[in-house]
Amino acid sequence: MDIAYIDKSQIAVWRAACEQVAAEKTYLGLVSLPPFDPERALPNRMIANNWPMYCALDNGRVVGWIDIIPNEVPECAHRGTLGLGLLASHRGQGAGSRLMEAALAHAPQCGLTKVELAVYTSNLSAISLFLKFGFSEAGMWRDYRRLDGVTYDALLMERFLG
Ligand SMILES: CC(C)(COP(=O)(O)OP(=O)(O)OC[C@H]1O[C@@H](n2cnc3c(N)ncnc32)[C@H](O)[C@@H]1OP(=O)(O)O)[C@@H](O)C(=O)NCCC(=O)NCCS
Repeated sequence: MDIAYIDKSQIAVWRAACEQVAAEKTYLGLVSLPPFDPERALPNRMIANNWPMYCALDNGRVVGWIDIIPNEVPECAHRGTLGLGLLASHRGQGAGSRLMEAALAHAPQCGLTKVELAVYTSNLSAISLFLKFGFSEAGMWRDYRRLDGVTYDALLMERFLG
């Protein structure tokens, strides 16, 4: 797999990858995504601002992504929220680590000094990845999500840069 900054030509395939991971209902904040509008899709804003957004590519096909979105409030713009995912077929092969390396190296270039995220406490693989990359536990939102009779708590994690 290759890791590369997202390109506009990859937006539709990136979106398909997001839909596939969301449909697993296990890891992401959404289980289905809102209607797709390529012109208003997140990568356009990320590319326009040179914010961190990288893809994992398998023979040119997007199979994973990572983004760090700076907070919209000017006084909080030093804080970014991290999201990432890989297709199930491409997990456990080091791509998650490589996406993290790329995004965390990029983040200071756009004024970010802190990265934050929320992860379901049931998502032990992701929590292990975040701990490996220097994130620490900042708190917990209990009863964060209710889905199919299961209650999920969210662990809040943060990492200071530089
Ligand atoms: C979390 C995720 C991105 C990790 O990516 P990955 O490519 O599978 O991870 P890597 O192969 O680079 O492994 C890096 C570290 O992740 C952790 N990890 C990965 N798979 C794991 C598993 N099955 N069990 C426990 N830890 C695991 C380990 O800490 C591992 O480090 P190690 O190899 O030194 O033990 C991937 O599993 C994924 O896409 N999950 C679904 C989406 C998701 O959870 N997104 C995060 C939402 S907050």
